[in-house]
Amino acid sequence: MAIMDPDTMTGFKAFHGPIIHSLSPSKLEVIPLALIVVDGDGRIVSFTKNVDATGIPGILATLGTSEQNVRIQHLETGEFLIPGFVDTHNHAPQWAQRGLGQGMHILDWLDAVTFPNEARFRDPDYARSIYANCVDGFLRQGITMASYYGSLHGEATKILADLCLEKGQRAFVGKCNMSRNSPDFYRDASIGESLQVTEDCISHIRKIDPAGNLVKHVLTPRFAISCDPEVLQGLGEIAKRNPDLPIQTHFNEAEQEMQATMGLFPQFSNEVDLYEHFGLLGERSILAHCCHMTEYEMQRLKELRCGVAHCPISNMTVGGGFMAAPIRDFLRRGIKVGLGTDSGGGFSSSILDAMRQAIIASNAREMLSAGKDKGLTIPEVFYLATLGGAEVCCLGHEIGNFSQGKSFDALVIGTRGEDEGVMTMVDERDTLPIVFEKFIMTGDDRNILQVFVRGRLVRQQSGR
Ligand code: GUN
Ligand code: FE
Repeated sequence: MAIMDPDTMTGFKAFHGPIIHSLSPSKLEVIPLALIVVDGDGRIVSFTKNVDATGIPGILATLGTSEQNVRIQHLETGEFLIPGFVDTHNHAPQWAQRGLGQGMHILDWLDAVTFPNEARFRDPDYARSIYANCVDGFLRQGITMASYYGSLHGEATKILADLCLEKGQRAFVGKCNMSRNSPDFYRDASIGESLQVTEDCISHIRKIDPAGNLVKHVLTPRFAISCDPEVLQGLGEIAKRNPDLPIQTHFNEAEQEMQATMGLFPQFSNEVDLYEHFGLLGERSILAHCCHMTEYEMQRLKELRCGVAHCPISNMTVGGGFMAAPIRDFLRRGIKVGLGTDSGGGFSSSILDAMRQAIIASNAREMLSAGKDKGLTIPEVFYLATLGGAEVCCLGHEIGNFSQGKSFDALVIGTRGEDEGVMTMVDERDTLPIVFEKFIMTGDDRNILQVFVRGRLVRQQSGR
């Protein structure tokens, strides 16, 4: 349930309490008591560390205001503030099929499970009901920014963008381009129509959110297998004409997919050269999976400044790769990496689950690399879920952690609930870093008490 906060759009509001956020992959900042002041536009205008209640009036005075005029939320015992989670890869129309087809290879899974399901989004009423539930569901998980693949349908994709804006979720929303190698009942009618519907969705989203404050269209060739070369070419041209638009696709996900891709494009020997040829690789490209990477491809991704959407759950359950991406190697090289739920191939819509699976998958890679690629740490997976994801989406200047000038996209986490499942193991002897570690490894959406995007309260746990 989305909740409008009447106070957010006027004047300042402030948050006083413990704050935990990332400064870099290995640098987690834990501040026992801080004050964040947010203006009516949802921007952080002041961020002061180590300030007790007596210091608040002075800080507000420097902003030309006082405690009488600012709604100050003092966090309660066991609560702390973290940045909102960024989901760099998910499929909104797969909301209703999450978890189905575990263990199937990618092309078989698409044919048997996914295409029949996504085809249902030709019906706008069906799209509206599933998408409303989907956006609420991801907000409930603390996902304040999501990069969504839509279905191929223009109408449904516009509905998804409308819902994100209405419910206040920051989002990239993409009409999915797929003009070949899919069944008659679920394929773009023609190359021309594939591109025309994309242009139409771009115009719609520019109309509903002209500055792209919350919602942007993302160019979304599903993957090269499902796109005629002319579609890839056309999308590359649209990308050139619209330098502000992000681009997303699936990349080196599984052997079956890579072999089929090379069979369709024999003039290329790898996917980097293929997508680059069509003008689809650069700083604004979000490449899902990247499980199987050669030295050359990793070097090129770094040079081209592409981002990787790491989806460790689906990598180990659907697709046939059954091997997650070499994240330690990516981080070592300075390649941008974030986390994706990839739900529905991924069975969970929780970024906390994705963080845990990223740790598990990286531990397997540590063993396979004979100790060379060390497993990921808690600060590192938290970085991937927040600032890393923001960088992948080219939003690092705007979200991902707290600093003056950034947007206030944040979660209030609670660890002392009455509910039996909510952190019953936390007690007063636990230091803040320990409480945080317990939340990351055992918490769930019941610990996510409030969700803010651009300063607006977009979800609040019932009973609060
Ligand atoms: N490759 C092309 N489409 C998809 C999809 O929907 N999910 C996954 N995991 N891989 C894909
Ligand atoms: Fe995917």
